[in-house]
Formats: sequence, C-alpha cells, structure tokens
Amino acid sequence: MSTNLDALVSPEAPVRTALKRTILMCKPSYFTVVYRINPWMDPAVPTDTSLAVAQWQTLYDTYVGLGFDVHLIDPIDGLPDMVYAANGGFVIDNIAYGAAFTYPERQPEGPAYMDWFRDNGFDVRVPEEINEGEGDFLLVGDVILAGTGFRSASNSHEELSAIYGRPVITLNLINPNFYHLDTAIAVLDPSTGSGTGDIAYLPSAFDEPSLAILRERYPDAVIATEEDAAILGLNSYSDGYNVVIAARAKDFERQLRERGYNPIGVDLSELLLGGGGVKCCTLELRR
Ligand code: ARG
Repeated sequence: MSTNLDALVSPEAPVRTALKRTILMCKPSYFTVVYRINPWMDPAVPTDTSLAVAQWQTLYDTYVGLGFDVHLIDPIDGLPDMVYAANGGFVIDNIAYGAAFTYPERQPEGPAYMDWFRDNGFDVRVPEEINEGEGDFLLVGDVILAGTGFRSASNSHEELSAIYGRPVITLNLINPNFYHLDTAIAVLDPSTGSGTGDIAYLPSAFDEPSLAILRERYPDAVIATEEDAAILGLNSYSDGYNVVIAARAKDFERQLRERGYNPIGVDLSELLLGGGGVKCCTLELRR
C-alpha cells in the first residue's frame, strides 16, 4: 500500500541511521614534521604543535558531541606521527591485529598500540607482515577492503583473512599522494551487510583491475573530485549518518548532503602537513 509519506522520501536521499561508534585517538602533543615518508611531508616547512593540538581537540569534541565513545592512548615524545591512530592497528570482533610499520621512524608505534589494546582487553595478534592498520584496511559490510602499493604488504591481506575469516579484497594504490587506502576511499555506510555498503572513492588512485572491482561492487559510489582529494577530503569518518570531513571538501560535502548524510566540516590543516586528515586520526574499536 502506498501512503503519502512514501511520496516524501526521495530515492536520491535515503534515510540514514547513525550508529554510535567507539574509537581510539592520540593527542598530537609531540606532533611535528622532522622526516619525510610521504609527499605531503616537508621538514623544511615549520609546524605549530599547539595549533595541531587545538585542531585535533575540535575533532575530538565533534566526536564526543556525536555521542561516540572516545578512548585515548598517551602520545610518546619522539613519535610525531602517533596522532594518526588509524595506523595503530585494525580491530574487529575484539581482535586487534597489530601494526608493523613500513618505515623505521614509525616502527615503535606498533608495540605501543599493541600494549594499549592488551591493557584494554583486546585479543592482540602480533603481525608477521608489514601493515599499517586501518590506514589500509576498511571494513565494509562483511568484507575487508585492503590497500597495498605503498605501505601494507599484500601478504598482510592473507594474514588478515586468516585472522578474521572474512573476505579480503586487495586494491592496488598507484598515486604516492594517496598512499594509504583511507586517503582514497571513505566508508560512508558500512552497515548494509554482505560487503555492499556505501563508499566514496577517488578513481585515479587505483590501478585498472582495482578500479574494475570498485565499479562492479559499488556502482552507486560517490566519486570524489581531484580537488577534494587533494586536501585529503576523502579521509573522513562516518557513523552512518554524520560524516566528519575536511571543511574545505566542498563538492564532497554537497554530494553527501544529496545522499541524505550530514557532513560536518573540521579543519585539520596542521595535521595535513604530516599527510593525514580526519580518518587518519581515528581508529575504530569494534568489540
Ligand atoms: N605521516 C604519516 C605517515 O606517512 C601520516 C599517516 C596518515 N595516516 C593515514 N591513516 N592515512 O605514515
């Protein structure tokens, strides 16, 4: 039976549901750029740690305002990239697959995050393969999208599927500016089951075979503009309705609104100097 109400719900803008998230963050108390492990980083450009902390605080406050359960790991002096908590591991079913970083500058972060997971009741799996956690692994429905090309080794994808018993889909990244999967794909609504889900991505970040997989699996995905991607606009975090994005990602913001999401802009310009944005500062903890 068709009612008047049905007519009001446009198929272009489905009703979205926010699900409360539990996340881990790390305050950028020691943030600076003293080495260069991605094209965004230039040690010659000065950074302002107190501005980084203030911008990060806005992100933290935004998440708290959305009702998220936000946990904090203590920052460590000498590990300036520790603020990018997404790289600290990957957590599903209370199992924390630890990170093993590509570059020596970040390697001590792996054990630091694993200690936090252990102290907080997670079942920690020490990694055998190089991987940078949720920076390269994204859960969409029941499927894990896994990036490789710059950081996480493709062998880590096998380790992932052995640990979680879920399908893992390998995607090859080809543009050094988008070196982690979470700089090239945003998961907007992961809760739609069987790996369908709603995502946004930047086509030029992937090789042809990977692009073919994305087109086939996500025919209705949001396609990000190069302009928005160039300020790491895709590096965003969604609870299924509210999507926290880079404030300057205007086309992305428009597309999200059209689809019934509630985009919330946050300015993390200082943390962009390290090559990270909203999502990089956010690690989801799935119990
Ligand atoms: N400077 C850090 C690195 O190059 C930035 C990490 C960004 N994190 C992310 N999840 N994309 O490793």
